[in-house]
Amino acid sequence: MALSELAPGVFYAPGWLDRAGQEELLGELQSIVRSAPLFVPRMPRTGTPFSVRMTNCGPLGWVSDREGGYRYQPNHPETGEPWPPIPDIALRVWREIGGYDRPPEACLINFYAPDARMGLHQDLNEADLAAPVVSLSLGETCRFRFGTTSRTGSGTQSFKLASGDAMALSGPARLIFHGVDKIYPGTSTLLKNGGRLNLTLRRVSARAE
Ligand code: SIN
Ligand code: FE2
Repeated sequence: MALSELAPGVFYAPGWLDRAGQEELLGELQSIVRSAPLFVPRMPRTGTPFSVRMTNCGPLGWVSDREGGYRYQPNHPETGEPWPPIPDIALRVWREIGGYDRPPEACLINFYAPDARMGLHQDLNEADLAAPVVSLSLGETCRFRFGTTSRTGSGTQSFKLASGDAMALSGPARLIFHGVDKIYPGTSTLLKNGGRLNLTLRRVSARAE
């Protein structure tokens, strides 16, 4: 596995998952989406919809709506059912790229239609900030942007994430601002109707003292 550190704590593993693995994982995600359908998250207070649609797997899932804001919960916000289990391939990327001694509790599944994006933000809803955030991309390539831990910090840089690429934000990069500028349509044949799927694995609860 090729693993490079693009900035302190920003790890990038291009081609971590080969095409056969991507197809296997896609099949698992399709069955997850059948039992835990994609939903439209909304911004706290304003209720503005995200352009990305989401679902989750694992003991906890990240959700957001106008009334409750950003949070983790054990059930799907629309069906009320527990989230399905995290696929083995996703647990493997956590072990290989994350290098953390406890398993992930949440695996957020983001679906980007070709015109979707994600503004710069920090992942702040987790109590265990010693754990990395590990992600795996499937489908069309995106431009991923990251900066520093301050919104007004010293500029940002970007790189492309293609199908099968994995990355982690850990240690000094755990709280950096990051987002997705755009999707490049036509860059992958994995998803029949285009777009991009991203899995984000996180540890949520604090370590018991
Ligand atoms: C996120 O930061 O929540 C998603 C990042 C990505 O889609 O790669
Ligand atoms: Fe994020």
